[in-house]
Amino acid sequence: MKDLASASTDKIKSFLKGTAEDIQFAAQLLTKGKVVALPTETVYGLAADALNPDAVREIFTIKGRPLMDPLIVHVLDLEHASRIAEINETAKQLAKSFWPGPLTLILPKKPCVPDLVTANQPSVAVRSPKHPLFRAVLKASNLCLAAPSANPFSYVSPTRAEHVRHTLGDKLPYIMDGGPCEHGLESTILSLLDPKAPIVLRPGPITAEAIEAVIQRPALSSSAEIDMHNPVSMAAPGLLKQHYSPKTPLYLCHRDDLDGKDPLAAYVFWQRPQPLDFNSKFIYWLTEDGSVETAARSFYHLLQTIDNEGHNAIFLENPPHGDGLYLALKNRLQKAAYKFR
Ligand code: TXA
Ligand code: MG
Repeated sequence: MKDLASASTDKIKSFLKGTAEDIQFAAQLLTKGKVVALPTETVYGLAADALNPDAVREIFTIKGRPLMDPLIVHVLDLEHASRIAEINETAKQLAKSFWPGPLTLILPKKPCVPDLVTANQPSVAVRSPKHPLFRAVLKASNLCLAAPSANPFSYVSPTRAEHVRHTLGDKLPYIMDGGPCEHGLESTILSLLDPKAPIVLRPGPITAEAIEAVIQRPALSSSAEIDMHNPVSMAAPGLLKQHYSPKTPLYLCHRDDLDGKDPLAAYVFWQRPQPLDFNSKFIYWLTEDGSVETAARSFYHLLQTIDNEGHNAIFLENPPHGDGLYLALKNRLQKAAYKFR
């Protein structure tokens, strides 16, 4: 068994790999109030015992996240969800269809949930992740795990263990490597505080259409956007205009504006240009096959990679029009580019 006592001082030497021993070790760390980065099917998460305020505080410290931004609590199943949230019929229906998977439900919270998790709100965000390693740790620990994306606050989200090590490795001794994330974009967040009028707070891999097909009523999209400097608007958090941004200035462009004229810039096409006759050697594309699923999966990885190459700008072609996953990807792109307008 690995040495738990050295957990807080260790720098990362190697990733936890998801062997039976590593899973037990991660569960033990979490039970003792430590923070462990774990893979999910959306992005990597920074996990800690949701019912332990000291452990949760450590998540905020490691991420540099403002305390008014609440966390998602990850649970094994609906029964575990009912430990922390009031489950209504609509939630049951949706959980039956989409859990485990990338759908987060906002529900009234139970008193056991620390105010730190919910930023003093009466609601809690709950989801049951699908990644087998995250599930194995939930099972081994028997905990509910608060976990935001494992990136420094407002930076690009991590879709590989290496991204977490690169950006947070000096603050976080334990990262479990579960390979590249399947979806590559964060979960859909749906408010069920009024189950008759569900609201999509964050578009994601589970589309509004798929939700509507299950609950047989409209799921409205929230158009509210949050101003970090206006505490009143933080009553509906999670909708910051600026988020997921690289350090390198990022500009969304029409394809015709990708001209290759700046020798130090990176140019990102939607799909591989045919033929590949382009001025710049710094040319990338989001999807080889043109599918939006592939583009979503590679988006954060590409941004992290390009951001580490030292370009003076990133010019990225706007994705084609579309709904469903296109809306989720556009949402992330616009937030990532917002501060460079
Ligand atoms: O796919 C995901 O959801 C990933 C993985 C790790 O599960 N997690 C994730 O967490 O994206 P995070 O913290 O980066 O984003 C969660 C969002 C935040 O913007 C937060 O404001 C919102 O969920 N949120 C959390 N609790 C809420 C609540 N009670 N009401 C409204 N929004 C809430
Ligand atoms: Mg995040």
